[in-house]
Amino acid sequence: MRPHNGFYGPFGGQFVAETLIPALDELEESFNSVRKKKKFIGEMKRYLHDFAGRPTPVYFAKNISEKYGINIYLKREDLLHTGAHKINNAIGQAILTKYMGKKRIIAETGAGQHGVAVATAAAMFGFDCTIYMGSIDAERQMPNVKKMKLLGTEVKLVDTGLKTLKDAVSAALKDWVFNVAHTHYLIGSAVGPHPFPEIVAYFQSVIGRESREYFESLGFLPDFVIACVGGGSNAIGMFHDFITSDVKLIGVEAGGTSLNPGENSATLAVGKKGIFQGTLSYLLQNENFQMEDVHSISAGLDYPGVGPQHAYLRDRGRAEYVHVFDNRALHAFKELTGLEGIIPALESSHALAFVIDNRDRFKGKNVLICLSGRGDKDFGIIEKVNLEDI
Ligand SMILES: Cc1ncc(COP(=O)(O)O)c(C=O)c1O
Repeated sequence: MRPHNGFYGPFGGQFVAETLIPALDELEESFNSVRKKKKFIGEMKRYLHDFAGRPTPVYFAKNISEKYGINIYLKREDLLHTGAHKINNAIGQAILTKYMGKKRIIAETGAGQHGVAVATAAAMFGFDCTIYMGSIDAERQMPNVKKMKLLGTEVKLVDTGLKTLKDAVSAALKDWVFNVAHTHYLIGSAVGPHPFPEIVAYFQSVIGRESREYFESLGFLPDFVIACVGGGSNAIGMFHDFITSDVKLIGVEAGGTSLNPGENSATLAVGKKGIFQGTLSYLLQNENFQMEDVHSISAGLDYPGVGPQHAYLRDRGRAEYVHVFDNRALHAFKELTGLEGIIPALESSHALAFVIDNRDRFKGKNVLICLSGRGDKDFGIIEKVNLEDI
């Protein structure tokens, strides 16, 4: 899916301070030039293979499939180096940064998975690196904060707003405005001003491509492809090679504790159109167009916006977007752990939960779920809930 003048239908664009326009132009030009270069593609493939551990398997989860009467296939992004799909985009953009001749990388992080992926790529390629993280997220994802520091990255805690992902993005954008000449902002999801959503989707499209190749080798395509949606990078990467097929695409947002204002991150369920962090999309905002508080048990889904490609796919009717509440994500987390010996990230647990909780709709179908990450980062959260009661 390519944007037209930076827009996907009415969504996307570049709503940023004038000082950033030259940097976005330079980024777009560099990206369009390297994406066709054999040398760049070869380098990217080599790091993804030798360093990150691609291709990841598609695993037929026999036990949970039998229990629920659904053929559940898992795309195992959790097996990647650093534990989530975020490394695909971090490596791709780090190589792009090298080609642009910049020496410093900044990024935001929510769950810490993107932060760890960027800190890892920065260590390997020798960039100076600063990661912005909301102080509440830092508290709930402490192992990842420690990893980023070990990797030699400066972690700047953000104490403004809700002290979560959106505040970290705002802080990173502010840094970028002042340091744009030598700094690349390595954004972690398919959000922000054009060309970021396109770039992130491009680097994550490997998830969908490998998945499609796997099913083609079996001689059929899945009936459903399902992924969780925070900003939307694992989902858009997963959907990428299925958009022109008739496979049903479902994105699962965080319903938090309820759909009441401030208690969820279900942007496409209850949000309204607006401009936020450089792009036009759906947003969680009140009647005075002020950003609403957000909540999700998973730090990676705790974001009041959503990437413009998802807004477009939803309004065009090509993909369906649903939500799952915290306690049902915890239930799916427990089910996959106990039945398959795979501890999923709480983010990915949302995608599985939608399938389990709507089992009649999926009975007998082939359902491919993006297992976007592993759950060790979530132990701090899991310790605070009584899984016996879930
Ligand atoms: C494991 C995992 N899955 C999903 C997400 C959500 O991000 P996105 O919607 O960009 O895939 C995150 C974000 O940190 C994550 O860590």
